[in-house]
Amino acid sequence: MKKVSTVTKIILSVSLLTFSCAKNKATSIEPTPILPIAETTLQATLPFPMGAAVNVSLLKSNSNYRNLVVKEFNSITAENAMKFASVHPSKDVYNFADADYLVDFAKANGKRVHGHTLNWYKSLPDWVTNFQGTTADWENLLKTHIQAVVSYFKGKVVSWDVVNEAIDEDGTMRNSIWLQKLGADYIGRAFQYAHEADPDALLFYNDYGHEFGPTKRIAILNLVTSLKNKGIPIDGIGLQMHTRVTQSDANLASAINLAAATGLKIHISELDIALNPDNNQALTYTSALGEQQAVKYKFIVKTYNAIPKSQQFGITTWNVTDADSWIPSNYNRPDWPLPFDAQYQRKAAYQGILDGVK
Ligand code: G3I
Repeated sequence: MKKVSTVTKIILSVSLLTFSCAKNKATSIEPTPILPIAETTLQATLPFPMGAAVNVSLLKSNSNYRNLVVKEFNSITAENAMKFASVHPSKDVYNFADADYLVDFAKANGKRVHGHTLNWYKSLPDWVTNFQGTTADWENLLKTHIQAVVSYFKGKVVSWDVVNEAIDEDGTMRNSIWLQKLGADYIGRAFQYAHEADPDALLFYNDYGHEFGPTKRIAILNLVTSLKNKGIPIDGIGLQMHTRVTQSDANLASAINLAAATGLKIHISELDIALNPDNNQALTYTSALGEQQAVKYKFIVKTYNAIPKSQQFGITTWNVTDADSWIPSNYNRPDWPLPFDAQYQRKAAYQGILDGVK
């Protein structure tokens, strides 16, 4: 729709200009009407959904932030609002206030909502980390949480990161509370519980580090392939892709293409490209760095655009602008990982994304 209206407006403007010029030759009167030409946006240009992880506090309080999300993206993920500690703070208490706000915002503005995340070893409330119980009690806790959350958002959240970051850097199962209490098969059961609660939801295994090299990547791909072969209802792989400007194109391409070779849907689910991975406290943003970042964004988008269309679930950046990126605060360093700067303006990286589908 947006593409058609952009093209229509351009054609209309050009034909009116032509008409007006011809007329001016004859009569030399009547000013040419200037019609607005719709601006290019990510959501209107990219041939797959383009999303961002959204911070609900900023969505509520900052109109520049909110307007940018409305304008540029057609898919959103809650940065934190759907995590276990946010929605299920005590054993018998659910709090969907922020998540509801995000879902209502998405509905009012025609955006898809991707759910993040049903099972993770982080962002657990104290009542879970302190929970005492038998294996059956833990299983019940896992199942109850997943089914309560998925049922609540049935028909509103189209897809879920069911299990997040269950594999460690060395390719072994991460020694999380879930592995300790339930053993490795909790992963498959988490998918089954989610599927029971909403058979229409698309279910993803989400992790980072596919682009680090073969060790973690192969372990993740073996996990999802074995789930698929066992008939577990898994629809896709989330490649977080918190990457850096120095990452090699070969590693980035392997991450995307080998995941796609599974036949599952691929979501680049948390994309950002750090410019200061070495934590240089004195580093400043320069146009040269911005250009390098643009080239890397372009490569990722171009590679993604070449996988089969039916597998392109979309690309989501983790956060919206350099001002709200998790990276500077998490690593205590200056950094500029996103396509928008702290003043909500488009960086070279923005053009890099567009160039990836030219
Ligand atoms: O809400 C509390 C607030 O009440 C308190 O005053 C404040 C003090 O530190 O903490 C607030 O919670 C923080 C929360 O973000 C909201 O800002 C947590 O400490 C902090 O740990 C949390 O960090 C989030 C992190 O996940 C852990 O959940 C980041 O914002 C978020 O960007 C990050 O996202 C993860 C993905 O979920 C999974 N993949 C990696 C990605 C980046 O780490």
